Amino acid sequence: MSKKGAFICIEGLDGCGKTTQAKLLAKKLGKSHSAVYTAEPSRGKIGTYIRKSYLYGEKRLSSVLEALLFAADRIEHVETEVLPALNEGRLVISDRYVYSSLAYQGAAGLSLEWIKKVNEHALQPDLAVFIDVNPNTVMSRLKPKKSVMENLETQQKVREIYLEFVEKGSLTRINGDKPQNEVAKEVYEVVTKFLNAPR
Ligand SMILES: Nc1ncnc2c1ncn2[C@@H]1O[C@H](COP(=O)(O)OP(=O)(O)OP(=O)(O)O)[C@@H](O)[C@H]1O
Ligand SMILES: [Mg+2]
Repeated sequence: MSKKGAFICIEGLDGCGKTTQAKLLAKKLGKSHSAVYTAEPSRGKIGTYIRKSYLYGEKRLSSVLEALLFAADRIEHVETEVLPALNEGRLVISDRYVYSSLAYQGAAGLSLEWIKKVNEHALQPDLAVFIDVNPNTVMSRLKPKKSVMENLETQQKVREIYLEFVEKGSLTRINGDKPQNEVAKEVYEVVTKFLNAPR
């Protein structure tokens, strides 16, 4: 396998299993590819604000403000975590990335073109994986811990936007409506196929 650094992101609805799968993958590829797990919102100042003060707060911010905060956090995430690891030749696995902004703020009514524009300086991922789970399933998984973005209608809209990117070929879809170990196997296959292909 090539030792060249690569940037992979794992996307999907809240509760679809992104954190579970991204961490498992980072563990599996830890030795062979010096894989590192990162996540958005990031551990930086803006990411911490998003997570602590807003995401589990009372109400949503305006969608424009949301999109700008996530875009700003993304730049910080790339500059402080992703690029330094890539420069060391490591495999970076990000739990959410730019497709989350497109899907969630797109579902909130913003144009995808504008969201792309404000994220224009965010590094392109080399591979983007979408763990596709039925919105009804994720709602039941999430019962005790819901963020401001989680209701069935939102999840359905978010999924539709993710699927548009699957159709366009920018996201690789994985069936997440299966037991964790089976989803993990499929994620691993897609990622190793990508890593073994000439780049
Ligand atoms: N394939 C699966 N089948 C059943 N339950 C699962 C599966 N994958 C994950 N879970 C469970 O669903 C819950 C949510 O998983 P996880 O935290 O990995 O999702 P997530 O996509 O990271 O969610 P969030 O968007 O809220 O961060 C956890 O309790 C996890 O154990
Ligand atoms: Mg998670």
